[in-house]
Amino acid sequence: MEITLWNIKFKNPVWTASGTFGYGIEALELYDISKLGAVVTKGISLKPRRGNEPIRIVETPCGILNSIGLQNPGVENFLKDIYPKIKDIDTRFIANIFGETEEEYVEVCLALETAEKIVAYELNLSCPNVKKGGIVFGQDISLMASLVEKVKSKVKKPVIVKLSPNVSDIREFSRVCVESGADGLVLINTLMGMKIDIYRAKPVLSTVTGGLSGPAILPIAVRMVWQAYEEVGDRVPIIGVGGIGKWEDAMEHIMAGASAVQVGTANFYDPFSPLKIIEGIDKFMRERNVGKFAQIVGIAHRERLK
Ligand SMILES: Cc1cc2nc3c(=O)[nH]c(=O)nc-3n(C[C@H](O)[C@H](O)[C@H](O)COP(=O)(O)O)c2cc1C
Repeated sequence: MEITLWNIKFKNPVWTASGTFGYGIEALELYDISKLGAVVTKGISLKPRRGNEPIRIVETPCGILNSIGLQNPGVENFLKDIYPKIKDIDTRFIANIFGETEEEYVEVCLALETAEKIVAYELNLSCPNVKKGGIVFGQDISLMASLVEKVKSKVKKPVIVKLSPNVSDIREFSRVCVESGADGLVLINTLMGMKIDIYRAKPVLSTVTGGLSGPAILPIAVRMVWQAYEEVGDRVPIIGVGGIGKWEDAMEHIMAGASAVQVGTANFYDPFSPLKIIEGIDKFMRERNVGKFAQIVGIAHRERLK
């Protein structure tokens, strides 16, 4: 189950997704999080953010809509209060980074350069729930390219980019992102949606729209991982996220081309799901005599041509 990406060893390819698992430490009373391949932190910004007003999360058929608005203590407080609690945990940590401007993305990354426990940066260019930054970069291909180039030119750690599914052609965004220097792609963030409270005749979320996640988005995420793999799978690793609740879902992402997967919304209804997914993948590989995890990454592309 061990994988190596960007010369970094991960115990296994099952990680937790940003914003759905806090900073990992919140789950310590439930289980030993060092069993995870990696923890991706909640989005970290330069300054503290209070996030959006409630209501900012609501259930939908087979999923949830959220509009948290990147609530977080800011990078300085992260380093002071949270980092000391994670720095001795025996798993990898990836910092999810958010900024309103190019400079903010760079500054947050630079503030984390000497924090050894953080092995890579995941740039969130795809949050649909904030007025400035995030998705603005993720939906404008030239802004995205410029941001990725800029961050890459300033930092030493690997930079992976979390793309927005709210674009018409994910192939083009994937290609340009890699040509701009991204060391890997993460697909997908939430899809923009909304819900109306028919008894109040109003949108439920304070921000009107929010991001859809959970089992409802699995087929869309698998399709986007498939397309990104066709476009750039020979150049950089693709990390699959979206709708993964069971090991079979993770396996779909992997066979479509994901070198690792992230578990998001499933943590809310079953915090143990990442562990069950690790076990399920391990069992599947043993039963089928798959020696190396890499053999099954993108296998559906190769089998299709036989
Ligand atoms: C409540 C909530 C908060 C999230 N916060 C972030 C965030 O801070 N940064 C980010 O890149 N993605 C964030 N996401 C997106 C998830 O990391 C993930 O990409 C998305 O939920 C799809 O995966 P899932 O269907 O497994 O949940 C958030 C999702 C949810 C549900």
